[in-house]
Amino acid sequence: MSSPPRLPPGRSGLPFVGEWFQILFNPRFGADRRAEFGPVSRTRLFGKDMALLAGPENNLLLFRGEHKFVEATWPASTLKLLGPNTLSTQEGELHMRRRRLLAQAFRPRALLGYLPPMESRIAAAVDRWLARGELALYPEIRALTFDVAAALMMGAHERTDAALVHDFETFAAGLFTIPADLPVTAFGRAKRARRRLIAHLHAAIDARIASGETGQDVLGLLLAARDDDGSKLGREELAEQMLVLLFAGHETLTSGLTNFCMLMAQHPEAYARVCAEVDRVTPRGPLTVEALGRLAETERALAETLRLEPPVAAAFRKCTRTFEVAGFTVPAGWLTGYRIRDTHRDPSLFAEPARFDPDRFAVFEETCPHGRVHAHAHEGRYLPFGGGARICLGMEFARLEMRAFAALLARRCALTLVPGQDLTMKQVPVPRPRSGLEMRLTPRT
Ligand code: HEM
Repeated sequence: MSSPPRLPPGRSGLPFVGEWFQILFNPRFGADRRAEFGPVSRTRLFGKDMALLAGPENNLLLFRGEHKFVEATWPASTLKLLGPNTLSTQEGELHMRRRRLLAQAFRPRALLGYLPPMESRIAAAVDRWLARGELALYPEIRALTFDVAAALMMGAHERTDAALVHDFETFAAGLFTIPADLPVTAFGRAKRARRRLIAHLHAAIDARIASGETGQDVLGLLLAARDDDGSKLGREELAEQMLVLLFAGHETLTSGLTNFCMLMAQHPEAYARVCAEVDRVTPRGPLTVEALGRLAETERALAETLRLEPPVAAAFRKCTRTFEVAGFTVPAGWLTGYRIRDTHRDPSLFAEPARFDPDRFAVFEETCPHGRVHAHAHEGRYLPFGGGARICLGMEFARLEMRAFAALLARRCALTLVPGQDLTMKQVPVPRPRSGLEMRLTPRT
């Protein structure tokens, strides 16, 4: 007779919700559980058992298990609002095919074409901010990242109009809510906003096709992109895929850039080094991908920002097949996932993990097989963009925008935090300072 499966140790929390609140609001939850039960433990979430896995080897196990024994899972509200035709909600072979198709809009050659519109929008925002002097940066950066994404994805030529921004915010606010479709609920409002956004995307697609010009932005490249069998995305799916690109890239980049500004203001010596490097490598004139690639010091400051405050704290998965890990059995039907924030705060992987220290990446680069910081995702220990078959599709786009932003900020601005504000971090939906980051921007002398 075979022995019963050895399930991971752990606890279940409250009836129905389980340990949802602890997972969401206690930043030490993962570390505490690991200290109590080891790298494989069990919790419960909304009536489902969940395997909590910790450590680089377990992160790698999950990356390797994508489409084999785990798949992506989303709350009902997110699934309904994103729809079934998006990279985030597609699975298996279809997911892999769509990734190859969508990746055509994120190749190095495509990024070259994205830089000028990105640069002009960031530079214009920096001008406006300098003219105002003192401002809350988080909402400004939020508007900027949407403006850049809308220009590149929806072909907007002017600054994105306020109604569109508002619709997108309403849509995003409904993604993780109770899926009750009523006029007064966040979900109901999000559904109506989604309809308008999809209509806007349809109009952009139709106008582009009618113009007979494809263009070198995301919309143009995706209109021209072909699947492995030569087929292209239909109008409906193209609009939904573009909406998910907007969603996946917007809050994440906003969080990364806001926290970069905060950390630079808190660590003037690190910012001085970024400024000196920008003065040396690209002091004026149009930015180039080549020059941005030479900003090693800046890249380390950005990488350290994403280590300390990863915009995506964790990713959930559903086990589609029973698997074994470290002598325990994780049954099919359980939830699991990899935890980015906990990995980045593990003192056995990063000495003094709470300290902002861009130089730790200089050591990384020396020992890194590909000489690139982000290659460490493959070792399961530095993973702001995730890893495996679902590694962030927009990673190089995001890194380009972050470097362009850092360079244009450093060329022009001295940063001072307005005193007396609450800089403790709000973690949900993405980490950013509670105050909204009140900052004084003055011209660098
Ligand atoms: C997936 C992080 C920016 C598009 C992911 C994942 C992470 C991540 C951790 C994996 C989620 C999982 O395993 O379930 C980030 C961070 C960003 C960023 C930290 C900015 C600093 C962007 C941008 C875009 C984008 C700008 C689009 C232009 C996507 C898409 C996926 C994804 C489409 C889903 C990939 C798939 O399921 O195959 N991102 N992201 N991201 N990201 Fe990003």
